[in-house]
Amino acid sequence: MVIKTFQKRNVRILLVGDQGVGKTSLILSLVSEEFPENVPAKAEEITIPADVTPEQVPTNIVDYSSSEQTDEELNEQIKHASVICVVYAVDDDDSVDRISSYWLPLIKLSHPDGSCPVVLVGNKIDLVDYSTIDGVYSIMEEFSEIETCIECSAKTLKNISEMFYYAQKAVLHPTGPIYSVDNSD
Ligand code: GTP
Repeated sequence: MVIKTFQKRNVRILLVGDQGVGKTSLILSLVSEEFPENVPAKAEEITIPADVTPEQVPTNIVDYSSSEQTDEELNEQIKHASVICVVYAVDDDDSVDRISSYWLPLIKLSHPDGSCPVVLVGNKIDLVDYSTIDGVYSIMEEFSEIETCIECSAKTLKNISEMFYYAQKAVLHPTGPIYSVDNSD
């Protein structure tokens, strides 16, 4: 018997989310292991070689900045992503509301079959003494493409490497349902 295994050649992680939620800071914190006091509008695309990633797969990390990129460029990046981290700030309710009102519908336009996994990332956990995870679970119930969610802080580095590991894992070991129940009628 021949067992064919599906090998991804690389993982392309795209970070999207509202302005100021900390996308660039998350990337720079991961790379330099310290919180950047001065952040550029957009981080350069980063390539992490296979041998230093937990899953041994070359990984690209791509930032998005609305001040530097057009909607067309954003849509191109969404199309080419293998996983998308939708970042919100835990202290900014509007950025949470826009996960389901803007970001997930936008991603769905490029991946209508839900083929691109999504990780919800709640950043700036250092600023609050509560968790947003319960609220986020209701969004996860509505959008099956969300693989998982995590809260973190680019400032204290809490859960930063975990967040990128979850994103890698969402591509390589998806836990999505093997069937979905059609509730449309
Ligand atoms: P745009 O490029 O405008 O889309 O923003 P962005 O999402 O890339 O956010 P950026 O990394 O530029 O961070 C915005 C502000 O939030 C900066 O002043 C950061 O220092 C701050 N910031 C980012 N992450 C954290 C965090 O974990 N905790 C705190 N307290 N501040 C943070």
